[in-house]
Amino acid sequence: MSAVARRLLPESAALADDGWLTIGGCHLGALVEEFGTPLFVYDEDHLRGRCREAVAAFGAGRVIYATKAFLCRAMARLAYEEGLLLDVSTGGELHVALAAGVPASACVLHGNNKSEEELRFAIEAGIGRIIVDSFDELDRLEHLHQAGLGPVPDVLIRVTPGVHAHTHEFISTGQDDSKFGFNLGNGDAARAVARAAASEAVNLVGTHCHIGSNVFRADSFARAAEVMAAFAAEVDLPQLVLGGGLGVAYTSDEEAPSISTWASVLLDACRALGVRADVYVEPGRSIVADAAVTAYTVGTIKDIPGVRTYVAVDGGMSDNPRPVLYGSGYEALLARAPFAERTRRVRVVGKHCESGDVLLNEADVPADLAVGDVLVTPVTGAYGQSMGSNYNRIRRPAVVFTSGGSARLVVRRETFDDLLATDVG
Ligand SMILES: Cc1ncc(COP(=O)(O)O)c(C=O)c1O
Repeated sequence: MSAVARRLLPESAALADDGWLTIGGCHLGALVEEFGTPLFVYDEDHLRGRCREAVAAFGAGRVIYATKAFLCRAMARLAYEEGLLLDVSTGGELHVALAAGVPASACVLHGNNKSEEELRFAIEAGIGRIIVDSFDELDRLEHLHQAGLGPVPDVLIRVTPGVHAHTHEFISTGQDDSKFGFNLGNGDAARAVARAAASEAVNLVGTHCHIGSNVFRADSFARAAEVMAAFAAEVDLPQLVLGGGLGVAYTSDEEAPSISTWASVLLDACRALGVRADVYVEPGRSIVADAAVTAYTVGTIKDIPGVRTYVAVDGGMSDNPRPVLYGSGYEALLARAPFAERTRRVRVVGKHCESGDVLLNEADVPADLAVGDVLVTPVTGAYGQSMGSNYNRIRRPAVVFTSGGSARLVVRRETFDDLLATDVG
C-alpha cells in the first residue's frame, strides 16, 4: 500500500518541479507528449554504469552481454563501447550486432538448434566463439568444414551441470532434464569435449554452463561453479564461461545480489577450487532490467463492485509478456506523482483480446488514478521489448535513451505500414 520503492527505478529517476517523474533529466510527460505511449524509457547512464560494474568485477573482455535481454543497434553499440562482448543466440541477433558496427570477433554464438545457415553466416563473418550445444551441431560444423568453409572457429562445449537454479521452470536450464547442452551426469559432456578436441573442424577452447535466468540464490551459482570447476580441471581448457542468470528485484519485497556480489561468489568459488581457466560471464537481465520503465496511458477503468477494478492501458502482453509467461510481478506508479501513497488495489490489463492479458495481477495505485493518466511500470528493461510481439497487429512501442536532460529515439514506434512489410499476397 506504500509508495513504490525508490530502488526499483532507474538511478537517475528524480522529481521535476511539477512533481512528475524524470529519467535521465527528461520529464516523463514531455517524453510521452513527443513519443507517445506505450514507451520504453531507458536511463543510458544507468545502462553504462551496469556495464562498467560488470567489467570492473570480472575484468576487461570477460563480460559477454546476453543480447536476448534487450537488443537494438544502440544497445549493441553501447555494450561494445563499454568493453563487453555480445552473446547472440540466432543469426538475427548476430545481424543486428553487425549492423551496429560490432565486429563478429566480439560476438559469441549460442543456440540449442543452430541451423547450418546460421553457422555458415557466423563463421564467414569471423565469429569470435561458438558455444556448441549438441552432437548434431558438431556434425553440421564438420560438414561445413569438409565443404571448405573457414576459418576454423573457436568453440566451447555447453555443459548441463545438473544444478537446479531455483527459478521459474521455463527459465531453468542447468538441470539434467533440459533441451540445452551436453549432460555432465551421463557422460555426454566428456564425449563432446573428446570429439571436439579431436576434430579438425573446430578449435576447442573451453567449456560453458548457464543454469537459468532470474536466479537470486548465490548458493545456486556457487554450486554450478563447483561442478564446472571440477569438470574444467579434468579437461584443462583455457576458457570457462559461467553463464548469466543473476536475478533482479521487480517488486518492493524482492532483493537481488548486485553484479559485484555475484562476481565475488563466482570468482571466489573458482579461486578456491583452483580453476586455471579464464572465467567469463554472460549477464543480460542484470545489465538492462532496472535501467528502464514503460510508460502507458490509462484508457479505461472498469469497476465491478465487490469483485475488482480493471485498469486497462494501451499496451499489454505484446510489450511485456513476462507476467503471462511466468506469472511475474511488477509494480506501478503514476508519472505525475511517482511517490504518492498507493491505497487502491486494481488489476492492470492490456488491450489484447485475451482475458490473460494481465500486466499486474494485484497492483496498488494512488486512489485518484484516472483515465488519461500515464501509468509507469518499473524494471521493464529486460525481456520486454525483446520478447514483444505484434499480437492483434499492435504496433510495437518506441524506445528512447535518456541522459543529461536529452532523449534520443533509438527504436521508433512501428507504423501501420510496418505491419504490412512482410505481406506479399
Ligand atoms: C546461455 C545464456 N546465457 C546468458 C543468458 C542471460 O541470462 P540473464 O538475462 O538471466 O542474465 C541466457 C538467458 O536465457 C542464456 O540462455
